[in-house]
Amino acid sequence: MTRHAPKAKRPIVLGIETSCDDTAVGIVTAGKTILASRVHAQHREHAPFGGVVPEIAARSHVDHLDRLLGGALKDAGLGLEDVDAIAATAGPGLIGGLMVGLVAAKALALAAGKPFLAVNHLEGHALSPRLIAELEFPYLLLLISGGHCQLLSVRGVGDYQRLGTTIDDAAGEAFDKGAKLLGLPLPGGPNLEKAARKGRTDAFQFPRPMKGRKGCDFSFSGLKTALLHEVKRHKKITPKLVADLAASYQAAIADSLIDRGTNAMEIFFKGTRRKGKPAFVVAGGVAANKFIRARFEALCLEKDFRFLAPPPSLCTDNGAMIAWAGCERFRLGQSHGFDFPARARWPLDEKTRPKVGFGRKGPKA
Ligand code: KG4
Ligand code: ZN
Repeated sequence: MTRHAPKAKRPIVLGIETSCDDTAVGIVTAGKTILASRVHAQHREHAPFGGVVPEIAARSHVDHLDRLLGGALKDAGLGLEDVDAIAATAGPGLIGGLMVGLVAAKALALAAGKPFLAVNHLEGHALSPRLIAELEFPYLLLLISGGHCQLLSVRGVGDYQRLGTTIDDAAGEAFDKGAKLLGLPLPGGPNLEKAARKGRTDAFQFPRPMKGRKGCDFSFSGLKTALLHEVKRHKKITPKLVADLAASYQAAIADSLIDRGTNAMEIFFKGTRRKGKPAFVVAGGVAANKFIRARFEALCLEKDFRFLAPPPSLCTDNGAMIAWAGCERFRLGQSHGFDFPARARWPLDEKTRPKVGFGRKGPKA
């Protein structure tokens, strides 16, 4: 029995996200309605260890997923029988957590006789702006999260051209490691942003990594080291000093992102056929940062790009974006077999060779 969304708004897709330290379930319709989005953020469970512990994350997903699934269906006013397809993040991410979400989604799909979709987490972020706005392909995307920092031309569902990536840390890592150096609690990124609000952006002159260089690649590890040296120079770390360091450090990250984004705009302008004004999307957890959003909004105004960023709750990890990516693929007639494996590494643009080999920093980057 369908209690909610009418037929025209179908398919209705349920999505599960367990790739890192957020357990999340979302339910969306093809008509861009978010019927439910429940998230359990695990940062309190990881706080005593100073970072995400994969084992703890996987166990926590097991503990919370059932409750979130029940809650999401209740919010949507639907039973499992009303859902048209079930999607889950299959990678990239922490393998234990991915397996928890994948197994749950496959079991639900099997029990309810529904199609199953394996979603690339990065595709979830990449397509999320199409859930909140009318947005045609192609568009330019800055994907800034805890594990990734990339500029991409999004040409269609499953059609991504990577223009640049990080050669070391991701933007979210720069925030999280910076927060740790400043003695700020988890979650690092939001707490660094909060501290920065009371500080001066010009109090310290940190380097602007890659600024002025050709191309669209990023680097943040040198900036992190510069912050470490600055922290060590001071005998007493006062709240005022933390605020100034945070503001100056955040400004350096933003300047670097803006410089790389400006290059990507030029490349996108030259190399992409499209109708009308081009769109620039900022997505992923770091896109929740108000300072960075404002900088890109201003850049887009200057360069005549349409600026788009999902609301903060859809920037950080959530189930609605996974459900939406599943919905986009399901509408194209796609689904996956129950043998689809969890993939710790899964680049969006599989044609582009990794920047720095095939090791830890390879396909991840
Ligand atoms: O997309 P996301 O939730 O998970 C990954 O896919 O990695 O991104 C998480 C990252 C973390 O590094 C977190 O510190 C950062 O996004 N983040 C922020 C803010 N909110 C989340 N960084 C800066 N300012 C924020 N407000
Ligand atoms: Zn993410």
